[in-house]
Amino acid sequence: MATSKSGGLAGVVAGETAVATVGKEGVGLTYRGYSIDDLAEHATFEEVAYLLLYGEAPTRSQRDDFIADLKTLRGLPAGLKTVLEQIPGSAHPMDVLRTGCSALGTLEPEGPARDQLAVTHRLIAAFPSMLLYWYHFARDGKKIETESDDATTAGHFLRLLHQKEPEEKHRRMLDVSLILYAEHEYNASTFTARIITSTLSDFYSAITGAIGALRGPLHGGANEAAMEMIEKYASPEEAEADVMELLSNKAKIMGFGHRVYRICDPRSEIIQGWAKTLSASTGDTVLYAVSERVHAVMKREKNMFPNLDFYSASAYHFAGIPTGMFTPLFIMSRITGWAAHIFEQRANNRLIRPSADYTGPEPRAWTAVGQ
Ligand code: COA
Repeated sequence: MATSKSGGLAGVVAGETAVATVGKEGVGLTYRGYSIDDLAEHATFEEVAYLLLYGEAPTRSQRDDFIADLKTLRGLPAGLKTVLEQIPGSAHPMDVLRTGCSALGTLEPEGPARDQLAVTHRLIAAFPSMLLYWYHFARDGKKIETESDDATTAGHFLRLLHQKEPEEKHRRMLDVSLILYAEHEYNASTFTARIITSTLSDFYSAITGAIGALRGPLHGGANEAAMEMIEKYASPEEAEADVMELLSNKAKIMGFGHRVYRICDPRSEIIQGWAKTLSASTGDTVLYAVSERVHAVMKREKNMFPNLDFYSASAYHFAGIPTGMFTPLFIMSRITGWAAHIFEQRANNRLIRPSADYTGPEPRAWTAVGQ
């Protein structure tokens, strides 16, 4: 039987999917046959969400009905608000969404009255509300209104965060970012969701587990870790000196490298363009220059390229988004890809249960230590 000699299941084909391709011939990303460049240029996040969930791009009326439904689902039940009010302000926002997702599963469980699509719509609509309800309550005791008439998830999020009309360039940057983060084949969190689904567990359990997998800095948490690194530097020169030092100590630079892409991450250039645009419009003279220098040093020293997380960090920062919300935004987008994989797993399920090569002691007799 085949085993992954290099560890981490690298290069192991663990199943089939009709949702996305990642790095075919070393480059490229497609969602249900559409290239990521095409989608980021011409689609909205809600259209991409529909494509992932229903398999085909929506007609205009299908899209409008989908958005109308999401808008009705942004309010939070009183029981969930009570749970969110108990979570301390020191909690990590990822833990808030992990808890919020699990709690909603007890209040509005999946079942005959609420199928998997209904739960998916609910979570797409409610994740921004959960995070920002907690944020404002924990920070200054304010119980914000979590419903808004904004037609986009990006605009709704920014409106709740800043409690004012979002700037159009920030809204579209976030909309594009949500498109880029929506789906990525058998990545660690999606595979987690599929494993949980394969036991015939419920939808909320699969998503709660996926959030746990996404939290780590080798996966979704890299955008937050990248921000923490680049904001330390006062100049590109300081950044270069420190990255050289980190590399000489064999440290990993967050936001670089990828398990599947070999040549580049096709999403990175798109979000880099937005980071550059927003840097210019906010009068930034340091952060973008620092990011470009880290990029150049990684290329020169390691021939490594930035993944989506690296320039997402500065793009989000320029839109006034707190660093702790970077990975939660990933959830607000990836819920669509996770859902598509859960549907696919359920439609052709078999328990996912691999084997391991045993490396422990030879069989031996137990000696009782006595009373
Ligand atoms: N910075 C510096 N060196 C890196 C690196 C990085 N970000 N990513 C990988 N490398 C080096 C490793 O040190 C290793 O070198 P070695 O062979 O001399 O020991 C080699 O490249 C292979 O790395 P490995 O961690 O085994 O690759 P992987 O396929 O298991 O890991 C990632 C892929 C994404 C987990 C890895 O590149 C990483 O940790 N990146 C930083 C976190 C990140 O940005 N995650 C988001 C992914 S979208």
